[in-house]
Amino acid sequence: MSNTTQIIHSIPIDPLTGAISVPIYQTSTFVQEAPGVNKGFDYARTNNPTRQALESVIAELEGGTIAAAFASGLAAIDAVVKLLKSGDEIIAVDDIYGGAFRLFTQVYEKFGINVKYVDTTNAENVFDAITSKTKLIWIETPTNPTLKISDIAAIAKIARAFNCLLCVDNTFASPALQKPLTLGADIVIHSATKYLGGHSDLIAGLVIAKDKELGERIKFIQNASGAILSPFDSWLVIRGIETLPLRIRQHCSSAQFIAEFLEQHPDVDKIFYPGLKSHVNHNIATKQSKGFGGIVSFALKNDTEEAAIEFVKSTQLFKLAESLGGIKSLLCHPANMTHKSIPAQKRRAAGVADSLIRLSIGLEETDDLIKDLEQAFQQLQVKQNLAAKNQTVTVK
Ligand SMILES: Cc1ncc(COP(=O)(O)O)c(C=O)c1O
Repeated sequence: MSNTTQIIHSIPIDPLTGAISVPIYQTSTFVQEAPGVNKGFDYARTNNPTRQALESVIAELEGGTIAAAFASGLAAIDAVVKLLKSGDEIIAVDDIYGGAFRLFTQVYEKFGINVKYVDTTNAENVFDAITSKTKLIWIETPTNPTLKISDIAAIAKIARAFNCLLCVDNTFASPALQKPLTLGADIVIHSATKYLGGHSDLIAGLVIAKDKELGERIKFIQNASGAILSPFDSWLVIRGIETLPLRIRQHCSSAQFIAEFLEQHPDVDKIFYPGLKSHVNHNIATKQSKGFGGIVSFALKNDTEEAAIEFVKSTQLFKLAESLGGIKSLLCHPANMTHKSIPAQKRRAAGVADSLIRLSIGLEETDDLIKDLEQAFQQLQVKQNLAAKNQTVTVK
């Protein structure tokens, strides 16, 4: 069966009524016949049929055994870190999502969990950084926002050899393109806020475990800490998943087109898109995923925050907003938005230049999106020429 058909048919028909859409069980509790005698549900923090349907769907799609749905992507990340104890160490990708960096450094370091950030695009760096205290390796691939690709299978081998867990944040690829658990990872997490939800109308997170025992530990944390996804938002994610393959196909093809346009643009200094042959990790991306996703980042020749801010204020169709993966195209300036919590030096060292702009390519006509970018480049040119002229006048 093709991945697309599997995705659509992984969503169950309601066994009780035959409803083709999963029902929303908006309830806090379930009536019991006698203490402990119930229909598989007792209290909705512990389990809810709508959330359970989502958890089963995503476990199947990612090739895992048990999944747990959370109130946000960060709550999902938080649940994974709670598998660790004081004194344990994490090795994390250096170009990590800013919110994960903030959680690791500002919340968990004070509980004695230390994090080493390494460039995981070279698996040897992971090997070199491992110590007997390392219990978790954390990668995003592609990363946010410089679209670095790490070799999941190679890092999974290292994790196994040193008896530590490998967790992959699969938010940017989605299971329509890449299935880390089938490449040897132990855990996958998602910000389902992005491609899985797909319509910029919810905040949600998912954790999927390869192995049952690990999945049960995550379920325990989900219930014990309580950051669960509501029934309605679970339903919205299921609804998003129904069109995931179709949307991802279009996101990928438009992103490739736009990346090629930007690659030859005279005002662009660097372009980041794994689908380009010039991308340093193009070969690994081709090997481990079916497509390259809908995110394109680029840095300007005029590498200043001011130039990037002018650019992101000038687009019409690309809306200036945090987040990604929705129907409407968005753009953002990571240095001042998603990655503001990372110190400037560390951010630059991870490749997030001052002028870096991240595009989330939506489902509009590609030609319209290119015209929008073209007019933003033109506006930037005009403003820069004007500023240069004013400076000359002042100097005179
Ligand atoms: C790669 C990645 N992981 C995790 C998150 C956190 O997800 P959420 O915003 O749903 O908490 C984000 C948010 O942008 C993200 O980009």
